[in-house]
Amino acid sequence: MKAAVISMGSISSEMTVSEMKKLFTSVDHLNVSELEVSMLGTSAEVLYGGKPLKQYDCIYAKGSGRYANLLRAVTTVVGPECFMPVRPGAFTIGHNKLLAHLKFQVANVPMPRTWVVSTAESAKKILKKVPYPVVMKMPSGTHGKGVMLADSYESASSMVDALALLKQPFLIQEYVETGGTDIRAFVIGDRVVAAMKRVAQPDEKRANLHAGGEAKRIEMDEKTSQIAVRAARAVGAEICGVDILRGPKGAMVIEVNLSPGIQGISKATKVNVGEKIARYLYERTKELAGRAGDKVVQELIGEPKEIVSKVELRGDRILLPGVVTKLTKFAEQDDIVIEANKGDVRVKKY
Ligand SMILES: Nc1ncnc2c1ncn2[C@@H]1O[C@H](COP(=O)(O)OP(=O)(O)O)[C@@H](O)[C@H]1O
Ligand SMILES: [Mg+2]
Repeated sequence: MKAAVISMGSISSEMTVSEMKKLFTSVDHLNVSELEVSMLGTSAEVLYGGKPLKQYDCIYAKGSGRYANLLRAVTTVVGPECFMPVRPGAFTIGHNKLLAHLKFQVANVPMPRTWVVSTAESAKKILKKVPYPVVMKMPSGTHGKGVMLADSYESASSMVDALALLKQPFLIQEYVETGGTDIRAFVIGDRVVAAMKRVAQPDEKRANLHAGGEAKRIEMDEKTSQIAVRAARAVGAEICGVDILRGPKGAMVIEVNLSPGIQGISKATKVNVGEKIARYLYERTKELAGRAGDKVVQELIGEPKEIVSKVELRGDRILLPGVVTKLTKFAEQDDIVIEANKGDVRVKKY
């Protein structure tokens, strides 16, 4: 089975790739910045370095918020042909805290009380009623940047004026008192494989490791683990980091990270997270490749190749999976012969 990791080339991705190489026949490490999607009419194609992307059984795609839309496009186009632990829609949801909180809310994932506003005026109305301190967040901030803490209406109000200049909606959020700590739960499939508590620097409230936070391994109770798994499912990710605040009202999810670093958590917890990811990708790819089902490609040994899939119709026309075009190498306007009978259709080049 062939796999690819799409990433920005971080050490975490390198670690994952080297673990995957122990299981998959081949693993290509692709740089997200070299991907393109070309669309025309009913066909769409992904290019890597200007050439058509090779075929893979598994693609694990990651990248910063800047690449969220591109990754959504890439995974939408190649998705039906291989296993991907992060669904196309997850890229745009996971990199936008506003959309992520909407998903948490719908999936009944506990989260701090959150308001979405887009003007200074509406923000100030809310800020007059909330208890302090209060948190304000830009939807696409990461590494603790973009998270602001205001201890009074006066300071909140001036922050809001600055935020409104960006002309984008932002979040106002209940401050959860945790003593400057947060929990990073690493979710793979339906379980938390590693969890750490991050403690902010004495003069900081943000516990991100990038903001100087320190990490310690923790054992997750079953209830909090289930919350983390539900949050991951809600956004459509089988592999992700879930940030949780444990405050007076219990565990609350504040973020899902689709491109979680594995160095810090592996060191703090002594769990080889890269190996766990690789094993999961391998097992899931094998499972999906062997199962007859919707849009799953089954490469049989030798020719001809058999594809097990569901019939897809556009009106009264039959739509074949994109992989059929690749296998047959049919080109636009080729002459073909179609032999059709009840329950059977064969298409040959004329
Ligand atoms: N509602 C909140 N109450 C208390 N602390 C918060 C809250 N939201 C965020 N923080 C602190 O700020 C850090 C960064 O917030 P987060 O939403 O995870 O954004 P980022 O994408 O920047 O990591 C958290 O790890 C936590 O320490
Ligand atoms: Mg975070």
